[in-house]
Amino acid sequence: MTAEPDAVRAAIEEALDGVLPSHSPIAQPLVDAMRYAALGGGKRLRPMLTCASCMAFGGRLEDALPPACAVELIHAYSLVHDDLPAMDDDALRRGRPSCHAAYGEAVAILVGDALQTLAFEVLAGAPAGSAANRAVAVSLLAEAVGWQGMVGGQAFDMASEGQRLGLAELKALHAAKTGALISAAVRIGALFADATEAQMAVAKAFGDRVGLGFQIIDDVLDVVSDTTTLGKPAGSDQEADKSTFVTLMSLDDARREARALSEEASDLLRREGLQDTLLAELGRQAVERIS
Ligand code: IPE
Ligand code: IPE
Ligand code: MG
Ligand code: MG
Ligand code: MG
Repeated sequence: MTAEPDAVRAAIEEALDGVLPSHSPIAQPLVDAMRYAALGGGKRLRPMLTCASCMAFGGRLEDALPPACAVELIHAYSLVHDDLPAMDDDALRRGRPSCHAAYGEAVAILVGDALQTLAFEVLAGAPAGSAANRAVAVSLLAEAVGWQGMVGGQAFDMASEGQRLGLAELKALHAAKTGALISAAVRIGALFADATEAQMAVAKAFGDRVGLGFQIIDDVLDVVSDTTTLGKPAGSDQEADKSTFVTLMSLDDARREARALSEEASDLLRREGLQDTLLAELGRQAVERIS
């Protein structure tokens, strides 16, 4: 298989479709809503990173697809819960009614729960990789998205509404709520390529920088872009009085901060001779994107 981005994206879409259930004898609306939340668009940056990282470190795309699906299922769950009325209260996601707007709050909460457990089922059952590496991947993902990582970051984000955080606190918030999963996506891809300890360290350093840069640009886009382009409500952060990079610094400084992180990330790959890989390209896209 090729490392062309479109081919990788298409392989991810097909694999995701394959791991999501279609029929339930007891809860068909739940299953319909799971497919709605996970298959309805999105850039697929995180699963692309998993695949690209696996290939950059010498692995095969097909081996990376189940872990890539696991990562995207976690992301899809996080978006469903992030949009809930008790959280960001956003009725639009990926250009369509968000999950709770389409299926109701109770179903949306359960969709998030079910996508999260499905993610771990898919990762633990991935056919590739040694049993030891799969166990490491499960524990790495759990740590990245639990109380120390994404969920902790989301709690910090909610608690920071109406507050003005300092730079170090805001970096910690963004690193947890968004950076941790993106970094895990890169590391898990490397694991499925049987990467060495040194390569795993490069994957982590690269992923941490891309993840933080990605969320800084998300904050910028919330201010400078529009709802149609984003597929989610522009201005949502300001409405909720969130503490973001653009409440802390100017738009230009926020962009500069993201660009500096992206350059650091590129340098890390260049030193490994990986500058011409899809992984390097995705690192650039994460901060150069317009949606
Ligand atoms: C949105 O992520 C949530 C953040 C962590 C900023 P994406 O911008 O990757 O959303 P999709 O998957 O493309 O819809
Ligand atoms: C969401 O951050 C992070 C997670 C979903 C974990 P945001 O709240 O900024 O994401 P968007 O802007 O709604 O996509
Ligand atoms: Mg949020
Ligand atoms: Mg949100
Ligand atoms: Mg946002």
